[in-house]
Amino acid sequence: MSDKTLVIGVLASGRGSNLQAIIDAIEGGGLEAKIGVVLSNKKNAHALQRAKRHHIPFQYVDPKDCPSREIYDTILLGLLKTHQVELVVLAGYMRLLTSELVRPYQGRIINVHPSLLPAFPGLHAHQQALDYGVKVSGCTIHFVDEEMDHGPVIAQASVPVFSGDKESSLSERILREEHRLLPKVIQEYSEGRLCVEGRIVQNRSDPQIEVIQ
Ligand code: GRF
Repeated sequence: MSDKTLVIGVLASGRGSNLQAIIDAIEGGGLEAKIGVVLSNKKNAHALQRAKRHHIPFQYVDPKDCPSREIYDTILLGLLKTHQVELVVLAGYMRLLTSELVRPYQGRIINVHPSLLPAFPGLHAHQQALDYGVKVSGCTIHFVDEEMDHGPVIAQASVPVFSGDKESSLSERILREEHRLLPKVIQEYSEGRLCVEGRIVQNRSDPQIEVIQ
């Protein structure tokens, strides 16, 4: 591992399959990064077990101990700084961030969402897509701001929606793309390939951008 290895902090509330995809990519040599800490707002989040199994520092922070969301995020900020986190990855983190965390980490927080944003933000994105009758859905990796599922889009991957799909079958198909795309985006971030101007993220890995240069 070089001195310049990117340190990631992962926030997760649930099963942590995206966390596992990051761990696997690091351990497999496809992603040059280190997970400094995994934090959760859920005591029994399986993501914490995964962190433990891979000897990654982890901590549950109980929201009930905090009188406000701002104070909660200030505690998270302190922990992220303690672990020298440079990039925060929201991987199934089910809380909206406040400015206390977003401002100090401006442009350094990414989220994975299981729809092609701006379609179907928020909870139950797969069911929203099925109910709407779209024929294509997918996942989005985006920078995070204070609004839910709203910041500049970094990358998206699409999947077909088949008649007869249920929430479970669609989410499984989309999840495979999440697991592929998230480590790839983190690697691109670590190589300084992502430039943000307003809402537009230019990815210097894109062949057409390299041709223009
Ligand atoms: C994923 O579908 C992600 O897109 C969404 O929450 C889910 C988390 O899954 N934000 P996991 O905890 O990573 O398995």
